[in-house]
Amino acid sequence: MTNISAVYKLSLVVVTCFIQACSSSCPVLDCWFVQEKAGRGGGLTGATTQEKSLLHIRTDANSHSAESQRAPSDISPDRVYFITDPGATLCHRSLSPPRGSIKKPQCEINPFLPQPSTLKWVAPLTDSAFSPIYLQADWLSAALHGTNKELVISSIMRAPTATREHNVILSVTSKTVSVKARLGKPVLLDCGFWVDPSSPLSGSGFAVEWRYQFRGEGRLVFAYDGKTDRVADTQEEGATLDFEGLHQKGNASLILEEAKVRHSGTYICTVYLPNILSQVVLELEIVEPPSLSIHPSPLPLAVPGQTLTVQCEASGFAPLSLELSWEFKGTDGKSRPLEPGSVTGHRQAWDGTYSQSARLELDTSKVDLGRGGELTCVAVHPGGTRRASTTLSVIGFSTPSIEDSMAMVGVALVLYGLIKLVSWTFTRTFHVVLLQKEK
Ligand SMILES: *[C@@H]1O[C@H](CO)[C@@H](O)[C@H](O)[C@H]1NC(C)=O
Repeated sequence: MTNISAVYKLSLVVVTCFIQACSSSCPVLDCWFVQEKAGRGGGLTGATTQEKSLLHIRTDANSHSAESQRAPSDISPDRVYFITDPGATLCHRSLSPPRGSIKKPQCEINPFLPQPSTLKWVAPLTDSAFSPIYLQADWLSAALHGTNKELVISSIMRAPTATREHNVILSVTSKTVSVKARLGKPVLLDCGFWVDPSSPLSGSGFAVEWRYQFRGEGRLVFAYDGKTDRVADTQEEGATLDFEGLHQKGNASLILEEAKVRHSGTYICTVYLPNILSQVVLELEIVEPPSLSIHPSPLPLAVPGQTLTVQCEASGFAPLSLELSWEFKGTDGKSRPLEPGSVTGHRQAWDGTYSQSARLELDTSKVDLGRGGELTCVAVHPGGTRRASTTLSVIGFSTPSIEDSMAMVGVALVLYGLIKLVSWTFTRTFHVVLLQKEK
């Protein structure tokens, strides 16, 4: 019995290993080959053509197993590429989904033209001229999105002219395509790169640039010239790179020491080698839920028939997406629906966070609040739902309960006693004073 189950377990392990080995192998990627239309008169129409294409990825140029597969009939043989990626960046699990999976990785390739950059932090890379023979080749850039939505890869590939056997020369990767961060916390925007060590472009330096874009506005966040080890002027305080990791492992991740609302936006990580560049795009959103407070606090005692005005203030939140509502739960444990109340316009504080408030006019003659209960302000925000509660007491003049009546009788008795005591003391003192005067 135990033997059988052991065999069963063992075979399970073997099968699992086999599946894992399969899924970590390099993929054959369905891709779009996109290029600008050779427009008549070279007009700036921006029109593009799209052709189906197939990329056979391998880590070693000598493994020809993939080539034995026939290309599907709807793909032109000219658009079937054999890509050697010794860095295995394109062999990521997220680019090889299991067979029959609905989620597919996205892939686009474009013709690429190497050219020197005039940017201050990139120019030193092209000081020494490169063999034009190396640059005169068929270059492609590829942009890939993994199935897990968090992985993005951008590669530059080179093939000797008129072959379709490309080698990956530079890959830039990010594992955090969309980052959400709380206010004031440190933020890491992941970006890494790999350079083919056998390429003449490797070893002659690199440059890294981080740019920020938001609604058409852009700025340089960080620029680093890895050849002369210089940081260019940047306008962003508290932004840095891990220089050791950058030189040793190609870790170009941007570190923001303290998340601020104005950091929300698009970030572009660009890695430059002499004459070529590759970049990935990330989104950062600072998400901070509101703090709530209810005014007045505590609430005054409500008399039936009276209208009570209550205000709920939500502050310090971002982004500007908030729903405020009210809930009431009576002492009997029953919830009663309340009108949503009116919501004020928002205000923005110096740190970019927003505040907004909701006003509730509670007409105690219309809403049956019983003897009171708990009034709650509810704020629904992308950063989480927040609640603030306060106790609402209604003095029961209309239908006093037995406890109320007993308490009232008690209070009346005590008051009567007090009045009696005071008046007795007073008359006594008065008499004494009179007597003293007569003396
Ligand atoms: C890159 O560097 C940052 C900062 O030192 C670190 O937190 C991150 O884990 C590094 N990433 C990789 C892939 O090593």
